[in-house]
Amino acid sequence: MCGIIGYVGQQKAVDVVIEGLRRLEYRGYDSAGVAVVAGNEVQVRRRAGKLANLEKLLAEQPLPLSTFGMGHTRWATHGAPTDRNAHPHMDEAAQVAVVHNGIIENFASLRAQLEDGGVMLASDTDTEVVSHLLAQAFDGDLAEAMRAVCRRLEGAFTLVAIHAAQPDVVVGARRNSPLVVGRGEGENFLGSDVSAFISHTRHAVELGQDQVVEIRPHQIVVTTFDGKPADVKEYEVDWDASAAEKGGYDYFMLKEIHEQPKAVADTLLGRIDDDGHLQLDEMRLSDEDLREIDKVVIIGCGTAYHSGLIAKYSIEHWTRIPVEVEVASEFRYRDPILGRHTLVIAISQSGETMDTLMAIRHAREQESRVLAICNVNGSTIPRESDAVVYTYAGPEIAVASTKAFLTQIVAVNLVALYLAQVRGTKWGDEIIRHIDELAAMPEAVDRVLDTVEPMRALARELVDAKAVLFLGRHVGYPVALEGALKLKELAYMHAEGFAAGELKHGPIALIEQDLPVVVIVPPRSRKVLHDKIVSNIQEIRARGARTIVIAEEGDDTVAPYADTLVPVPAVPTLLQPIVATVPLQVFACELASAKGYDVDQPRNLAKSVTVE
Ligand code: G6P
Repeated sequence: MCGIIGYVGQQKAVDVVIEGLRRLEYRGYDSAGVAVVAGNEVQVRRRAGKLANLEKLLAEQPLPLSTFGMGHTRWATHGAPTDRNAHPHMDEAAQVAVVHNGIIENFASLRAQLEDGGVMLASDTDTEVVSHLLAQAFDGDLAEAMRAVCRRLEGAFTLVAIHAAQPDVVVGARRNSPLVVGRGEGENFLGSDVSAFISHTRHAVELGQDQVVEIRPHQIVVTTFDGKPADVKEYEVDWDASAAEKGGYDYFMLKEIHEQPKAVADTLLGRIDDDGHLQLDEMRLSDEDLREIDKVVIIGCGTAYHSGLIAKYSIEHWTRIPVEVEVASEFRYRDPILGRHTLVIAISQSGETMDTLMAIRHAREQESRVLAICNVNGSTIPRESDAVVYTYAGPEIAVASTKAFLTQIVAVNLVALYLAQVRGTKWGDEIIRHIDELAAMPEAVDRVLDTVEPMRALARELVDAKAVLFLGRHVGYPVALEGALKLKELAYMHAEGFAAGELKHGPIALIEQDLPVVVIVPPRSRKVLHDKIVSNIQEIRARGARTIVIAEEGDDTVAPYADTLVPVPAVPTLLQPIVATVPLQVFACELASAKGYDVDQPRNLAKSVTVE
C-alpha cells in the first residue's frame, strides 16, 4: 500500500527511482511521483495513474541531473487519485518534498493548526501537513526536523523527505509501516521493501519501530524518534533481481502460478532434523508453552484468511485443540476471549497488513502467544511475534495471491504436525508419513499445471458470464471461497463461494439456466462427503446450472453430471486444496485477460494493505 524509494549515490537518481517504482507498483498505482534535489533546489514531477504516465511527463519535462532523489507510487487513502494529491508533497516555499505510506490519524487537527497559522494547503492529503511541519521545524538538520515532526504524528507512517538546503542527505522515518535500508557501495537506498533496490544491492538493514534514518552515499545513521542511537539488524536478501521479473510470462500472476511447485518444495526444505524431528524456523516458544495451549485462534485477511480456514481442519484433526478462524479486521473489535494459553496464528504473505498487525498486538496485550506464518523475511508481523514459520514462495508481485496461498497451506500443515509432535498426539512415524505426503505435492501441482489447458479454454468461453458460483465441502469450502475471491479481484465479476450443503438454505435460488457453478469434489476416500456433493451437483444441474467439476483423477462417479470435468491428482483430503486451487487461479487469470483487464494490477486493489 503505497511504494516508496529513496536514493543517494553516484547514479542518476531519477533512473534508479523509476526502476524501483516499477518494482513497487504492485503496492498501489493510483499515481506516481519523483523528486530530486539539485543545485539547492528540490524539483518534483508527479502524475495521476500508473507509472507510465509519470514517465511520459518526465520525457516532456525532464528533471535536472541529480544523484539524490526519491519516489512514490500511491494507493489513495486521503484525497482522490488526482495530480494534485499525488506525492511528493512540498511546503509553500518548495524547499522540502515528502512521500508517505500510511495514515496520519491526527492530520485534521494538524491541518487546522497550519491553516490557523496562515499556511495554504494545496492538496486533500494527510501527507501534505508533514511537508509544512518539516519546513517549519527545519533548522539546518533534516533528520532533527523529522524526529521533531514524528513525535507530533499519530497513526501509521513511513516518510521519506529531502530538503533543498541540505542536498547531501535523504531522510526516512517509520512507525507501523514498512521501510528497509539497502546498503550499497558508495550509494544507499530506502525502500518499502527490498524489491525497490534488489538490482543494486542485496545487503539490507532492517529498521525498527519509531526510528529515523539518514542516508548519505557512504553513511547510514539510525536513531529513535528521541534522537538516541538505535539498534538495527543487517541481513542479506536471499533472492535476486530476476525473481522480481516476469521471466517470459505475460503476467507476474501466470509466472507465480507456475512457480508453485518450487515454492511448495522450498517451504518444505530442511524441516526434518538429524533426529527425524520436524523443526520450524524461529520457535521462540518452549515445548512447555505449546503443551499448555488450550485454544488456537487464526487470523488473516483475504487469501491468507482462506488458508487459515484450511488450517482449522488440519490442526483440529491432528492435535484435537479447538481452533477459531477470524478475519483480522474484525478480531480485536469484538473483545475476543484470549489468554496465556491461547495460541494466535497470524497468516500474512507481506507481514505488513495493518489489520493483521493490529490484531496480533491486541493478542499480545492479552498475553497470548503469537506465531506468524509469513513470506517476507524481517517484516513487521514476524518481528512482533513469538514464533515464525516462513513460507519460501519468493517475491510475490501480482496483487492476487497464488503461490503464497499454496505455501501457506503447507506451512499450516507443518504447524499442525509440529503441535502434534510436541503434544504427543501423533507418533513420530505418522508425522514423517504426513511430511512425505506433503513432499509429494510439488509434483502433484506440476501435473495440474500440465493439464490445465481446458480450464483456460473454458475461461475464454465464459467471458460474458454474469456470475460464477463456487461450491465445496470440508477443506473444499475454503477453496471455493478462494476461487470466488480470485474471480472478483481479477475479472470484476460477481462470484460467490458457498459450503455445498448450505446451498439448499438459500443460495440455490440463484441457480438459473446456464449459470456456471464450479464444484470442488472431495476425494472418493471420504465417501460420505463425496456422495453428498455428488447429490449437490445433481441438484444444481437439475435446475439448469452449467457444472464445472474439479475431482480427483479416475473419479467416474461425477463424470455424468459434469459439463466440464477438471481432474486433479488424488492426494490426501487435507492436502486437496493444494491441487484443487490451481485450476481456479488459472481460470480467473485467463478470464481477466480475455476481458482485457490488467491481471497483475486489478482496479482499486493493492497487494500490501497498510491501513485499517
Ligand atoms: C490484500 C491483497 C490480498 C491479500 C490480503 C492479505 O488485500 O490484495 O491478495 O490476500 O491483502 O495480505 P497479506 O500480505 O497479509 O497476506
